[in-house]
Amino acid sequence: MSGLDAIIDPEVNQNTRSYYIIQEYLKRVPVSTIIEIGASSGGGTTEALINGILNSPSKGNGVKMASIEVSRARFKNLKERYQHIPFFTPYNTSSVPLDKFLSEDQVRFFMKTTNVHGGNVTEVLKWLRQDIKYVTDNGFNENGIQKIKDDFNVKSFSFACIDGSEFTGEPEYNELPDCDAYFLDDIHVIKNWVPHRTLEKDINYVKLFQEDIRGGSSLFCKKEIAMKYFSS
Ligand SMILES: C[S@@+](CC[C@H](N)C(=O)[O-])C[C@H]1O[C@@H](n2cnc3c(N)ncnc32)[C@H](O)[C@@H]1O
Repeated sequence: MSGLDAIIDPEVNQNTRSYYIIQEYLKRVPVSTIIEIGASSGGGTTEALINGILNSPSKGNGVKMASIEVSRARFKNLKERYQHIPFFTPYNTSSVPLDKFLSEDQVRFFMKTTNVHGGNVTEVLKWLRQDIKYVTDNGFNENGIQKIKDDFNVKSFSFACIDGSEFTGEPEYNELPDCDAYFLDDIHVIKNWVPHRTLEKDINYVKLFQEDIRGGSSLFCKKEIAMKYFSS
């Protein structure tokens, strides 16, 4: 299998501090709703989130977690892996519809101003076209985040993990306003470049953590949560 149907290794794995900080957050802070974008086969951020809930006071308090994964092959693994977890619902679709993906011109402009991915515009545009083709060919051109909001009957979430397509981090973040906490992966490439820098400037949020291995990752939460649960 190739492209999005290839099975990939967990990225936020046990060799990263991010894997443990997600669990530490959930141990300390009560949560009721979690959304994860880009679960892959469930061995990375998903595992950290589910272990975190299982070891937290939120377990048994009606906590609900939804994960979105567009790849059919990775989704199959994800669903099988966590079929015994009652608070977990996986969704095999796109987080946002195609008209919200970055355009080719936006990608060109972004790469010119940041020089991410070694400035290799041709290669990065190939990834963008591959992501668009996969969503189109599989009939996933829909707003998965909105579907989960409707299913959970919420406007925002206690915890949002954004780690999907390289070309949807910003629109996903825009679809997820006012969450109590955000875990962002790949903050030094296109994916979460803007969300990370927007949250850094937002006086209502505090950065609890940043790790600069791979594409970098960060964890932010609302100021009042930081004061209550992380001030010691
Ligand atoms: C970097 S990987 C996620 C890694 C995972 N969070 C971990 O810690 O191992 C990004 C995932 O996003 C998925 N993805 C790509 N486009 C997507 C979309 N439009 N909606 C939802 N998921 C998408 C990919 O199939 C891929 O599995």
